[in-house]
Amino acid sequence: MKYIIAIIQPDRLQETLDLLEEKEIHLVTVCPVMGRGRQKGVAEVYRSHTEAGNLLKKVKLEIAVNDAYVNPTVEAITQGGRTGSVGDGKIFILDLEECIRIRTGETGGVAIG
Ligand SMILES: Nc1ncnc2c1ncn2[C@@H]1O[C@H](COP(=O)(O)OP(=O)(O)OP(=O)(O)O)[C@@H](O)[C@H]1O
Ligand SMILES: [Mg+2]
Repeated sequence: MKYIIAIIQPDRLQETLDLLEEKEIHLVTVCPVMGRGRQKGVAEVYRSHTEAGNLLKKVKLEIAVNDAYVNPTVEAITQGGRTGSVGDGKIFILDLEECIRIRTGETGGVAIG
């Protein structure tokens, strides 16, 4: 199991969610976040929605998946988020030790999706 964290541009969220849906990846956590990358917020100001100090408004997706869904998830986020301009975002993939559905007590891969 992997825990996939992606930071993308807010204006790429809907397209990314649509592509995830197409690949049957429905369960997702979305958070508004602030961040900065290599350009330290400076070169991207033209495409940002809000600026506070050096931080630009981004969206964070968090998706826990079984191993078979790692590549489809990365493909959907890459396709949905990429414009070719700086600030398109980044994907982080972490090993996930456990997942527990609180309602039933199910664990592991069964509980993920
Ligand atoms: N190493 C990192 N650690 C934590 N957050 C990061 C890291 N790199 C990027 N981010 C987050 O992702 C957002 C988008 O990063 P961004 O796409 O600008 O990365 P970059 O490395 O500067 O690549 P590019 O040159 O394509 O802009 C940042 O605003 C920040 O929130
Ligand atoms: Mg950048």
